[in-house]
Amino acid sequence: MCGIFAYAGPRDVVEVLLTALKRLQYRGYDSCGIAVLDGDELMVVKEAGPIDRLEKRLTQYTFQARAGIAHTRWATHGQPTTVNAHPHTDCSGTVAVVHNGVIENYRELSQRLTERGHILRSQTDTELIAHLIEEALSEQSRTEDVPNEQVFLQSVRQALSQISGTYAIACLWEGAPGLMIGARHGCPLIVGAGEQEVCLSSDLNAVLPITRKVHILNDDELVLLSEKNLIIVSVTGQELSPRFQVIDWQLVQEDRAGFPTFMLKEIYEQPDRIEEILSQRCRGEQIPFFEELTLRPSELIGFRRIIIEAAGTSWHAGIYGKYLLEKYLRLPTEAEIASEFRYRQPVLEQDTLVIAISQSGETADTLAGLRQAKSRFVRVLGFCNVPGSTLSRESDGTIFLLAGPEVGVASTKAYTAQLIHLFLFTLYLGRLRWILDEDQIRSILSSLSGLPEKMRVVLESHDPIVRDCARRFQNARHFLYLARGINYPTALEGALKLKEISYIHASGYAAGEFKHGPIALVDKDCPVVCIAPTDSVYEKTFSNIEEVRARGGRLIVVTTEGNSDFDQMAEFVFTIPPIFEDLTPLLTVLPLQLLAHHIASLKGLDVDKPRNLAKSVTVE
Ligand code: M6R
Repeated sequence: MCGIFAYAGPRDVVEVLLTALKRLQYRGYDSCGIAVLDGDELMVVKEAGPIDRLEKRLTQYTFQARAGIAHTRWATHGQPTTVNAHPHTDCSGTVAVVHNGVIENYRELSQRLTERGHILRSQTDTELIAHLIEEALSEQSRTEDVPNEQVFLQSVRQALSQISGTYAIACLWEGAPGLMIGARHGCPLIVGAGEQEVCLSSDLNAVLPITRKVHILNDDELVLLSEKNLIIVSVTGQELSPRFQVIDWQLVQEDRAGFPTFMLKEIYEQPDRIEEILSQRCRGEQIPFFEELTLRPSELIGFRRIIIEAAGTSWHAGIYGKYLLEKYLRLPTEAEIASEFRYRQPVLEQDTLVIAISQSGETADTLAGLRQAKSRFVRVLGFCNVPGSTLSRESDGTIFLLAGPEVGVASTKAYTAQLIHLFLFTLYLGRLRWILDEDQIRSILSSLSGLPEKMRVVLESHDPIVRDCARRFQNARHFLYLARGINYPTALEGALKLKEISYIHASGYAAGEFKHGPIALVDKDCPVVCIAPTDSVYEKTFSNIEEVRARGGRLIVVTTEGNSDFDQMAEFVFTIPPIFEDLTPLLTVLPLQLLAHHIASLKGLDVDKPRNLAKSVTVE
């Protein structure tokens, strides 16, 4: 969840580290820090709070550094204070470490280290790594023919061998100026190899401004880096050849293109993204095609059951996928919350396909579900946005979402990219399994034409009215969201968007389930957002909405243009242009994203970096 960056090279190291931290801050933003080797002296500067505070402090220093490490934190062990911010150092202050992940034998290690005389200054698990390296360094017999870089490498390996849990680390040692060591086990770490400069990061977005030539570390690999050297070794000490690849991925734009927040920019990017996805996947009205998919058609034909596992917004997309796959393919499909799937003992047989959906491709629970499936010899298909991510590398085949980098913690364009890919994948599989013929597919595909334009219309025409609605309801204490059928996930997603950025409690329900308990919450102060396009379950949804109105609930309705049923009933009506029923979720979610955004902005909250959250949740 935190961001790591390290750099060695001729540029201004502090400036490079700060720029990278700004790119990484969406991964965690409660504190941050850097360590540099100023000549052969280790200097650490860190701060609680946002990066500009650190930047301000750093103006007091002038470092002559050729190498440095940096970190932006999302607290797991210990409060987000300056002392708990990374980098952490050993007793002598000669080793500095930044770390992502969780050390599970933290208690045992800290007790052992304390007994041996180490003074631990923070409440973090990371600090232990610095002390373990310090111990290993002092145990290494330093003879003249063992260069310091080997001593350092051996010490890091020795320290890591005592740790159980997950980690990606980068570290510096005064004894080996200009050199950095990185290692990973369960958390991503990417090595960038430029011309006479190298870098290391938890995130591709921070590497790409330096170089597009990368090596993605595997678990249990270490890397020793300096301006002139890049050596990969296994945890057992065996030297490995780097597997370089050149990444062709759009860089995260540093500016918000005139929008006040990244989230709003990303909401407005959705029509263009969908247009691009359709043109790449369908090329006109062709049968959808996934060039990158390495699962063979012969394999995809044989499955008799599908389990989708994912978290948060990606799980909501998974429910949409379930509805489509069952409807069109008649394949039993479950959509599971990854953190439940991984710990219960699901029946996983080899005629099951597991689909793991994740924007980041680094969500710990989703990865654990994937690994569980693979350990039972079940094939896994990933739906993922980030190239090179762990999910894309560990799945048997991956479909990339093509949403482009998403910065706002609240997922928006990745969600609609997930929906459209699940829709297209259903058609692809339908054709492969001879359930849908070409004419049926072409007729369904024709309903996609105009989708991007309809999304534009919804966004542009609704913004002012959604703002009015946000003003009226910004002080509500809770919101309810109701829908049926293919829009049930829209209700869940609308509620999640609101609560994660505005901190207003919100729950989404299947409208038919509402009267089995939650209806008791309805009173004259309770806004109820009803998603009711004129679809096959409209009449049923309408009755549920009448029940809410009868109990004094304040209605906000999303329905289809031309439907006047709510004109007298609802305080606000947001309409979508008519579209094929199974595509309505790509339109109905848009006003709900805007509503969440505008309420959070009116409350003066940091929309892109909501409290307690991080963009990718790499701890369970
Ligand atoms: O990267 P992933 O799609 O695996 O992330 C899953 C969730 O953490 C994520 O969707 C989260 O719920 C978002 N903040 C929702 O906006």
